[in-house]
Amino acid sequence: MTRSQRLTPQTRASEQRFVAYVASSVDGRISLSEKAPPDWTSEEDWKFFQEELEKCDAFVIGRNTFEGLKGRARPNTFVFSRYPSATPQEKDVTFINPGIADLKQLLSPFRRIGIVGGARVYQSMLDQGLLNEIYVTIEPILFGRGREMFEGGTKDHGLKLLSVQTLNKKGTVLLHYEVLR
Ligand SMILES: NC(=O)c1ccc[n+]([C@@H]2O[C@H](COP(=O)([O-])OP(=O)(O)OC[C@H]3O[C@@H](n4cnc5c(N)ncnc54)[C@H](OP(=O)(O)O)[C@@H]3O)[C@@H](O)[C@H]2O)c1
Repeated sequence: MTRSQRLTPQTRASEQRFVAYVASSVDGRISLSEKAPPDWTSEEDWKFFQEELEKCDAFVIGRNTFEGLKGRARPNTFVFSRYPSATPQEKDVTFINPGIADLKQLLSPFRRIGIVGGARVYQSMLDQGLLNEIYVTIEPILFGRGREMFEGGTKDHGLKLLSVQTLNKKGTVLLHYEVLR
């Protein structure tokens, strides 16, 4: 598929979309540890990610990744935690346990929800049918260790490739998928 053959997801203008953003090594790792900063991703991916976040009106993120933001969370951020009430509250940020909370209801006011990760966040949104699109940026690096992209799944999910873009000369590749139902 070339750049000019980009497909668009099957969507209506009014439809709610859940869109995951993942930066990965070639061996499918998103981080070396739970606290490691994302300092191995390219400038081009960072720019893409920031531009995409501007299009979203709500965000879903795991507690560790949220803590890495150090108070820079955007409005309408929903943070997954098993212990939401034990966490200090912040303005515009809602801590929820997705095993208990009614996620569909909580997120119903929003049109485009950015799923920021980590692995169990991506997986639980996928498992609950709350993931429509996935952007995966593959950086040309091998870790051989670290956090996997998705974690704890119990079944396969089919994807349709919508586009492939090379972002820079070193070979960072951006893949865009639609999750098939
Ligand atoms: N490359 C990328 O695209 C990307 C994306 C996101 C994150 N990261 C990196 O990944 C690292 C953090 O990874 P992480 O695996 O520790 O992920 P994380 O999802 O940020 O944090 C994990 C924590 O979130 C809560 N959580 C996540 N899913 C949950 C669920 N389904 N139910 C209840 N609680 C849930 C739990 O918090 P409690 O312990 O409070 O219960 C869990 O301990 C950081 O280095 C970050 O920079 C990279």
